[in-house]
Amino acid sequence: MWHEVAKLDDIAPGGMKYVRAEDREICLCEYGGSIFAVSRRCGHQNAPLDQGSLEGWILTCPLHDGQFDIRSGKNLSWPIDHDMGDEAAIPEPVQRYFKLEKRLQWKTRVHDLHTYPVRVTDGAVEVDI
Ligand code: FES
Repeated sequence: MWHEVAKLDDIAPGGMKYVRAEDREICLCEYGGSIFAVSRRCGHQNAPLDQGSLEGWILTCPLHDGQFDIRSGKNLSWPIDHDMGDEAAIPEPVQRYFKLEKRLQWKTRVHDLHTYPVRVTDGAVEVDI
């Protein structure tokens, strides 16, 4: 069933927009004059992907930098293990949190994103749920 979720003018070239349709959280992405719709939640640990970055057709998660192809929803790369720098300068409770977070990060599988068909009718962006 098709749902109008935005106006085409609401999405800048190369930009993203978070929308909802029924109970779905969707991230609309503009690439090359077309609109693509993927699930808003990262396939790793649920971060909101509209807060990440879009370069061409590659969407990068804001939390651990996992990357996805907005055309297919396919996961392109796993999370990145960031260097936190000089550990001695980080308070011990924070070091423990980073160790736990790192352990969970690498034990969580990264799923592909769900994609939705998109059409634009009279300037209205519609997704098929
Ligand atoms: Fe997106 Fe971890 S939550 S890469």
